[in-house]
Amino acid sequence: MQGAVEGIGYLVGTWRGEGRGLYPTIDSFAYTEELTFCHPDPRKPVLAYSQRTWNPRTSLPMHSESGFWRPKLDGSLEVVLAQSTGLVEVQKGTFDADQKVICLKSDLVGNASKVKDITRVFKLVNGELSYVVEMATAMTGLQPHLKAVLRKV
Ligand code: HEM
Repeated sequence: MQGAVEGIGYLVGTWRGEGRGLYPTIDSFAYTEELTFCHPDPRKPVLAYSQRTWNPRTSLPMHSESGFWRPKLDGSLEVVLAQSTGLVEVQKGTFDADQKVICLKSDLVGNASKVKDITRVFKLVNGELSYVVEMATAMTGLQPHLKAVLRKV
């Protein structure tokens, strides 16, 4: 793996773990999640990403999303995503290849009835990938909606 994609190359593979959803306006909930990152074209600095979640008690599907992670050599990162709810996102931010921290903030949220802004922060610590997703809606400022910890399978 060469170039910008090397800085987030540790993501490539399949990750599975448990998450918790919350928000001031809803009851909190548990979910199980699988994330897959792959690098389909070695000539291009693009990782393909897909995520699916399910109810850990009933195994019924919950939210899913997929898209592309596009790192640049200057440490900036663009992520384009489509969610199963119909919402689309363009996220922009940075990756720190040494600290293995990725910080993203929505540059565009489209086709959303409530959501105004979304931030996503990922950290790799001792082989565990953890993230926090915050969102702002028309009624509520940025507040955590998702927290999860995953391990490579
Ligand atoms: C509720 C957005 C990811 C499960 C909501 C609400 C919004 C939202 C706007 C309604 C809040 C309100 O009524 O005030 C998002 C966005 C996500 C995301 C933008 C990703 C960035 C997820 C994931 C899951 C999930 C990954 C499940 C694993 C739920 C549940 C509710 C909810 C169960 C409450 C019931 C409902 O309204 O369907 N979400 N969500 N969400 N979300 Fe998410």
